[in-house]
Amino acid sequence: MHRLIHTLLLAAALLVPGLAPAQQAAGDGKGPPAGFVAPAEPKAGETNAERAKSQPGNNAPLWGAVRRTGQDAGVTTLPGVESGVLIQGFVQYPGSRLASAGEAWRQVRNQWIVPYGGSLLLIVLLATALFYWRRGALGGHEPDGTVRIERFTPFERAAHWTNAIAFSVLALSGLVMAFGKYFLLPVIGGALFGWLTFALKNAHNFVGPLFVVSLLIVIGTFVRDNLPRAGDLTWLLRFGGLFSAHEVPSHRFNAGEKVVFWAGVFLLGLGTAGSGLVLDMLVPGIAYTRGNMQVAHMIHSASAVLMMAMFIGHIYMGTLGMKGAYAAMRTGYVSEGWAREHHAQWADDVRSGKIAAQRSAAPEPGVLPLVQS
Ligand code: HEM
Repeated sequence: MHRLIHTLLLAAALLVPGLAPAQQAAGDGKGPPAGFVAPAEPKAGETNAERAKSQPGNNAPLWGAVRRTGQDAGVTTLPGVESGVLIQGFVQYPGSRLASAGEAWRQVRNQWIVPYGGSLLLIVLLATALFYWRRGALGGHEPDGTVRIERFTPFERAAHWTNAIAFSVLALSGLVMAFGKYFLLPVIGGALFGWLTFALKNAHNFVGPLFVVSLLIVIGTFVRDNLPRAGDLTWLLRFGGLFSAHEVPSHRFNAGEKVVFWAGVFLLGLGTAGSGLVLDMLVPGIAYTRGNMQVAHMIHSASAVLMMAMFIGHIYMGTLGMKGAYAAMRTGYVSEGWAREHHAQWADDVRSGKIAAQRSAAPEPGVLPLVQS
């Protein structure tokens, strides 16, 4: 279109006397002015030195070579796994256009993970707040009674809380790194935000390995009671009885907790932890190239956002959402009434003696032991 308009304007100028280009008016109308020598077309395979002679000032071979360092390894005296590669080759990461890898990674982060991940977290937070507003804390319908059952041993609680505290530090620092420039930077300004992010980034790097170790201990500690059992499907299909008068009976952990365990703790937890260790450069035998780091970063941030979304639900149920749940993980003990209301089959097994009511060596001081009746 532009070309057509340009041609039409040129034709009009040539037809109107006095508007023809000066060169045309000065010459004989058949070619360039006398004495003009057009430079030779540059040859395709020229080196930069050759091009400097054939077309002084044209550095295209140099920049072409820089551009191709992702495909043709250059020559450099610098050490490193990617020496000689200034610009990575072209790739298309899921969700990006075909672009040089750095740009493709940038597109995935800025066009997918940040906007959709941030929206997901806000939506889950809002839905949880709405649920609390409409339903309040669940439970509290059974009288406690005088009997106490040890739900979590000191070891289980130590593993859980180490992991939970590490998770909270990582979640907080990760959120500031990913979304802080939108909600914190405008409030606290560049200088403070810079220092804060720098401090949190270092906290993230050092707390990461603590999370990984405690995550493995948590998985090992709770895996047995999270194995699927008959009745789990019924629990899921009836949403645990959330919309009826009574909870669907479950064993020590209900099917909802099992979903959080397998999808959140096991799958997303290990995915986030493994990719985090790669980003920390702690996994031996990996080539720490930009490409591998980009892939590790995309897995890490996507799985961390999904994990946080799941754990908003877990943390809600473990604090505000269910009466007595937080006390169970803090003290280790629940009342028999709580066990009967929320984990009826587990309570039955404890009452029949199939599962010990006191699993750790000594009851906590001041705690009433189970009275078998
Ligand atoms: C950060 C705040 C957290 C709070 C307030 C919290 C709270 C709780 C509470 C109260 C329970 C007991 C539930 C019951 O009695 O059935 C529990 C269980 C559990 N929590 Fe957490 N938790 C947190 C974070 C985490 C994290 C980060 C993980 C792992 C990545 C985790 C993994 C577990 C596991 C495996 C259980 C046993 C029940 C199951 O397997 O689902 N928690 N939590």
